[in-house]
Amino acid sequence: MSLEEQIHLFSGNANLALAQEVADFLHIPLGAMEASRFPDGEIHVRCQESVRGQDVFLLQPTCPPVNENLVELLVMIDSLKRASARSITAIVPYYGYGRQDRKTKPREPITAKLVADLLTVAGANRVVAVDLHAGQIQGFFNIPFDNLTASLLFQDYFLKKKGLQEAVVVSPDIGRVPRTRILSDKLNYSLAIVEKRRMGPDRVETMGVIGDVSGKVAVLVDDMITTGKTLLSAADTIYKAGARQIIAACTHAVLCGDSVKMLADSPIAELVVTNTVPIPPEKMIDKIKVLSVAPLLGEGITRIRENRSISDLFSYGSSEQIALY
Ligand code: R5P
Repeated sequence: MSLEEQIHLFSGNANLALAQEVADFLHIPLGAMEASRFPDGEIHVRCQESVRGQDVFLLQPTCPPVNENLVELLVMIDSLKRASARSITAIVPYYGYGRQDRKTKPREPITAKLVADLLTVAGANRVVAVDLHAGQIQGFFNIPFDNLTASLLFQDYFLKKKGLQEAVVVSPDIGRVPRTRILSDKLNYSLAIVEKRRMGPDRVETMGVIGDVSGKVAVLVDDMITTGKTLLSAADTIYKAGARQIIAACTHAVLCGDSVKMLADSPIAELVVTNTVPIPPEKMIDKIKVLSVAPLLGEGITRIRENRSISDLFSYGSSEQIALY
């Protein structure tokens, strides 16, 4: 049986360009799924081909507009389930609501868990994500969950980049150290940590740097940029601590509000991100470099479809598996 007969990949509207890239990687056409709106804004979708008895994959990051994209994903899963697909794998390259993974104050929801329940009730049999904000979100699901990582895309990129002999990998807060350490070990750079305190959704304060960044190229690593406040505040701190050049590497470029303008005016010389979230042309400033997760997702889909192990994808082509969390 050819791949075309075996793999059925559909996409919501959140990141059609990425879905097309994955389809191209797999040498398959993207499945036809029609999505429209009723006059009151309700979403209507219809799968335009038979999926009866098929294993289908549906790609949709739940990036802004988060609620629109989430509901579209849910109704698309429902339509595939009711069209008698044998299995439905939701490929959610960016898992929105991932930061609401615990109660930090009384009477708060745990929305990351609610989203897990919604996806499962809608009919997903498996979920694939890239660099979940918190690895423990996998435990909110009672179905298989593959949390792929873009770390090795960054690793490859920085290994090939010239002029990084005197470099240090910097974690923008203490919580991110275990994941930042993976990159610093792989690149054989030292590690520094910025001490951050979040005062509110868009207010961040940095206290200082632990480690030596003076005269070095600082590679600032984070999972996502939303308001950009974490990155900017960390960049200012390490700039003042004497970093020679600052490069930021973040998987999910959510880039809300005027984050791009602030990044353009910041001491960050280069911002390396992936295409889990689409970047509109007006936000695509020169200092942004986009690495594609399409081969990572395409390889993951192939292996899931063929019931082959996916664990070594966490090291993206290397023979050595990386323990991420
Ligand atoms: C925090 O725990 C995350 O890893 C990111 O640092 C944070 O979500 C980035 O958000 P913002 O760009 O709004 O500071």
